[in-house]
Amino acid sequence: MKKMKVGIIGCGTISGIYAEAGKRFRNIEITACADLDYSRAQTLAEKHGIPSPLHIEQLLASSDVEVVVNLTIPSAHAQVSLEALKNGKHVYNEKPLALKRREAREMIGLAREKGLRLGCAPDTFLGAGLQTCRKLIDFGAIGEPVGGSGFMLAAGVELWHPSPEFFYKKGGGPLFDMGPYYLTAFTTLLGPVRRVCGSARITFPEREIKSEPLAGKIIEVETPSHIAAVLDFESGPVVSLVTSFDVQAHGMPFMEIYGSEGTLSVPDPNTFGGPVRIKRHKESDWTEIPLEPGYADNSRGLGVSEMIAAAQNGREHRANARTAYHVLDIMHSILDSSESGRHMEMSSSMTRPLPFSPGTDEGEG
Ligand SMILES: NC(=O)c1ccc[n+]([C@@H]2O[C@H](COP(=O)([O-])OP(=O)(O)OC[C@H]3O[C@@H](n4cnc5c(N)ncnc54)[C@H](O)[C@@H]3O)[C@@H](O)[C@H]2O)c1
Repeated sequence: MKKMKVGIIGCGTISGIYAEAGKRFRNIEITACADLDYSRAQTLAEKHGIPSPLHIEQLLASSDVEVVVNLTIPSAHAQVSLEALKNGKHVYNEKPLALKRREAREMIGLAREKGLRLGCAPDTFLGAGLQTCRKLIDFGAIGEPVGGSGFMLAAGVELWHPSPEFFYKKGGGPLFDMGPYYLTAFTTLLGPVRRVCGSARITFPEREIKSEPLAGKIIEVETPSHIAAVLDFESGPVVSLVTSFDVQAHGMPFMEIYGSEGTLSVPDPNTFGGPVRIKRHKESDWTEIPLEPGYADNSRGLGVSEMIAAAQNGREHRANARTAYHVLDIMHSILDSSESGRHMEMSSSMTRPLPFSPGTDEGEG
């Protein structure tokens, strides 16, 4: 197996786990990293043994980088990815794919024109937890899926994130920040969405940062912080999704899928592991299902490795831009519905990726 040379752009909070991907996946070699703030690239390089901390233009021009992993803030995703594609690099983006649908379409068009790969987080759906759910649904363990629900209810990122402002600007909020985990899980399990409706509100127009180093600073909130949506899937199920940064306490599950024969309790889609539980018609208790072999711990970077393996084998990668675009389109359509008071028909679609076989479909096999 041939390694591909990977450069990281954006050396903030999430970059540490990606910086370790070269040690975990045999087809990834992290050769360089860059950030608007060069000192952050230096710190990441020193901590994780990355050979070249660079300025962004240097990384984009480097012949030692074949794949750019874009870990910048959402408002910079499109610009950084377009530059990387223009420079002939494959790109794997953190979520969401871009802020605007138009930007995302431009990225997809450019990648296609240049024959380059464009992948996007999350890759948690490749983990053992969600792959076990996939197998159970495909094998009819809950009968025919008729509905589902997803709840991402939290009190706000300004309590812990060191630079939480972007979470409350356009392209942030609980829907655009955490929605991709839920929507990628639902669509890779149930297929594309046909139409959506939603209602959204901004609960606190200003939020005070409680975490260091910016404690006390006020954030002007630009995007809804509590959003309730209903999704009609092409295959039939009707799913409720609530995402919120305004909930102080709750007793709701992460995700459930309701079938004609029973209910599947889906693990937190922001993780790779379990528990996966099923309760069938007339059973008095939930049964915990052993996880399929695979990635059950924090395996961020798995999607990059799988994309590289797919590029080398000439097949479609699973954490792909078509699914990420559909997810972005769903999120925008939910907010459009809230503003217009109407259901929104989806014009984008996706195809469920094949089930994932660890050991053959990524760079470890
Ligand atoms: N923090 C998390 O737990 C987490 C988890 C999963 C995914 N993500 C996603 O990862 C991305 C980054 O999140 P984060 O929490 O690491 O943010 P962060 O603010 O901690 O880090 C972002 C970094 O990008 C740099 N940056 C901003 N604009 C840039 C540009 N134009 N060019 C180069 N560098 C630029 C910033 O200087 C900063 O170092 C976001 O898309 C977020 O949704 C974050």
